[in-house]
Amino acid sequence: MVTVLAIETSCDETAVAIVNDRNVWSSVVASQIPLHRIYGGVVPEVASREHLIKINLCIEQALVQSQISWQKIDGVAATVAPGLVGALMVGMTTAKTLSLVHQKPFIGVHHLEGHIYATYLSESTWKPPFLCLLVSGGHTSLIQVQDCGVYKQLGTTRDDAAGEAFDKVGRLLNLGYPGGPAIDRFAKIGNPKAFLFPEGRISLPEGGYHPYDFSFSGLKTAVLRLVNKLEKESNNPLPVADIAASFQETVARSLTKKTIACALDYGLHSIAVGGGVAANSELRKQLEVSGVKHNLKIHFPPLRLCTDNAAMIGCAAADHLSRGHTSSLTLNVTSQLSITEVMQLY
Ligand code: KG4
Ligand code: ZN
Repeated sequence: MVTVLAIETSCDETAVAIVNDRNVWSSVVASQIPLHRIYGGVVPEVASREHLIKINLCIEQALVQSQISWQKIDGVAATVAPGLVGALMVGMTTAKTLSLVHQKPFIGVHHLEGHIYATYLSESTWKPPFLCLLVSGGHTSLIQVQDCGVYKQLGTTRDDAAGEAFDKVGRLLNLGYPGGPAIDRFAKIGNPKAFLFPEGRISLPEGGYHPYDFSFSGLKTAVLRLVNKLEKESNNPLPVADIAASFQETVARSLTKKTIACALDYGLHSIAVGGGVAANSELRKQLEVSGVKHNLKIHFPPLRLCTDNAAMIGCAAADHLSRGHTSSLTLNVTSQLSITEVMQLY
């Protein structure tokens, strides 16, 4: 059994957790959403400063909640890529300092590998191989999970991430930041067939479409055009609920179709969904219905594990540490690193 103190500061949550293999002993998340809301999105400089203010308090809280001492901790982990460089620096520097002071190994973690490990925290028997649909504010990928550190990216977005599309459309509809939860709420009272939006498809040079890659920028532009047209042609209030429901249905359909096709083509019978957009009620509904139809097991971790947290980072780090994977104290943060290159960190 391996126990790790893990830090996550890649974007707008300052998070610290203490994890023993797949057991979470404490998990503290200080969200910065209210701070960034006034700007309509995450401001990197503001995020870094806020991480600096909150990090020590979060570490103290995580230690108190877990009721364990440093003697019982085997390693210190932090997300080192991908993410906002200044924000990542705060978590990584703090973890390296703790690692030096307490003489424990340092484990750098890939943020997306953390999202994959969120599944293990909520299903104790869950194990590879499986397909992971990762849908957050910054990422949209289909990842074939083969083993710890062994991943194949089978699909990704060619432009906006799914959550980014929700946030941009939320802004167009004046629903505030983040747009995803607000669109989900409005969609419940709207008609998903009110407007027909294009389901983004990626053309291949040899003809046909890429089966597992996503595109959401055309859909966002279609919503923008519709909003401009409706505002020009009528003085009535915008049919926000109908637009939200139609947009949400299109995103969920695109994600579901490609995820199911990918799982079937690759013979993967289990699918895990992670990232903030995994909270979306329409996506959950469509994936569950299709999963039953095609006899595929679909697992949605609880929301607190889907959105950014340090427990998932600790779970990934504990697995790496148990296999002897540790990082050099000269390791640096990177804004972009493919999930297929995770083993570069060790
Ligand atoms: O994983 P996450 O917390 O942070 C990132 O790593 O990006 O995801 C945040 C994203 C935001 O874009 C937010 O709008 C979206 O998740 N989101 C949702 C819902 N709840 C959060 N999108 C659609 N429906 C929701 N219910
Ligand atoms: Zn994330």
